[in-house]
Amino acid sequence: MKFRNFKMVGYVVYGRGSFNQLDEIIEPERKEGPMIFLVDHFFEKKPLVTRIPLRGADKIVFADVTHEPKTSQVDKLVQQLKNEFGDISGIIGIGGGSTLDLAKAVSLMMNNPGSSADYQGWDLVKSPGVYKAGIPTLSGTGAEVSRTTVLTGPAKKLGMNSDFTPFDQIILDPELTSNAPVNQRFYTGMDCYIHCIESLQGTYLNEFSKSYGEKALELCRKVFVEKNNWDDESDDKLMMASYAGGMSIAYSQVGVAHAVSYGLSYLLGTKHGIGNCIVFDKLEEYYPEGVREFKYMVEKNKIEIPQQVTKGLSDEQFDAMINVSLGMKPLWENALGKDWEKIMTRKKLRDLYEKL
Ligand SMILES: NC(=O)c1ccc[n+]([C@@H]2O[C@H](COP(=O)([O-])OP(=O)(O)OC[C@H]3O[C@@H](n4cnc5c(N)ncnc54)[C@H](O)[C@@H]3O)[C@@H](O)[C@H]2O)c1
Ligand SMILES: [Fe+2]
Repeated sequence: MKFRNFKMVGYVVYGRGSFNQLDEIIEPERKEGPMIFLVDHFFEKKPLVTRIPLRGADKIVFADVTHEPKTSQVDKLVQQLKNEFGDISGIIGIGGGSTLDLAKAVSLMMNNPGSSADYQGWDLVKSPGVYKAGIPTLSGTGAEVSRTTVLTGPAKKLGMNSDFTPFDQIILDPELTSNAPVNQRFYTGMDCYIHCIESLQGTYLNEFSKSYGEKALELCRKVFVEKNNWDDESDDKLMMASYAGGMSIAYSQVGVAHAVSYGLSYLLGTKHGIGNCIVFDKLEEYYPEGVREFKYMVEKNKIEIPQQVTKGLSDEQFDAMINVSLGMKPLWENALGKDWEKIMTRKKLRDLYEKL
């Protein structure tokens, strides 16, 4: 197919307090089994939990997102739910990108045999999952709109990319992001900023992608460059930036920062948002204006970007990162064009990793 025919999220509700509509929104989706609310462990014993509309055998499961989602974690959750309930009506993910990805993966694996590791790749998922809804509590990853769920497996860090992956429903309630810690909010927000730069400067760019990317970039700038304090408007804007940034890469791709940060994360477990920041900070050669503005935002928002994270690594370890990174072919092609392999040699990538 020449043009991508991509599947989008089913329903979207946006607004402060829209979380209160959760009960009526999921009501028509209730079948034999319970609804499972997969909630970011940050919210354990927090007031949000008391607002979850539990009915019948519904259950709240807290997601441990100390580390980014693993295929083994998905498989374990699925097995637990199958053992306890057999069938479930659906799964509602409430949390940051990690929790949203876990919810998507668990939904798919309830209806597909084997391990989630078997489905890391493109269009390997064969059957729709159970009903799934996503409710972000951090803004920036775009996981709420994407057709992937990023998982670290035994052999690779790669998503389950498929038409069955997008949520059936998302609830965008900026109130839920208001208590996010300043640093985390920045790192995840920068994921969105970097999506915009990588998409807008990529070779895959088209008008669809550009329209969303420009809007998302404008919103990121309002929040991190122009405003001098964080308020409700900031949360409102960043949530829409995340959505638009996600829509922008749906029809293009990310680029150098993501390709390099995947390697870091695979070897060192560096989390997505902060990893992207560590890498983007050193990408003047590829995104000069974006990196200049990024450094300004870091300074203005008084954020620390870790330095020298690859110091003292062995040749084998550098090679492992380089292998993971060069495996992200579409990202490199988007960033550097069809001849990317001539530009991004192993030597050049090693030098870049050594700078981080
Ligand atoms: N599927 C996709 O398209 C896609 C895209 C980009 C990133 N991702 C994935 O998203 C993940 C990163 O997501 P993230 O940056 O949103 O962070 P996260 O979900 O990993 O959460 C980071 C931390 O913030 C905490 N947290 C979440 N909401 C909070 C709140 N409101 N207040 C206080 N603390 C809160 C969490 O408990 C966690 O400790 C990675 O696993 C990455 O691979 C997925
Ligand atoms: Fe990202």
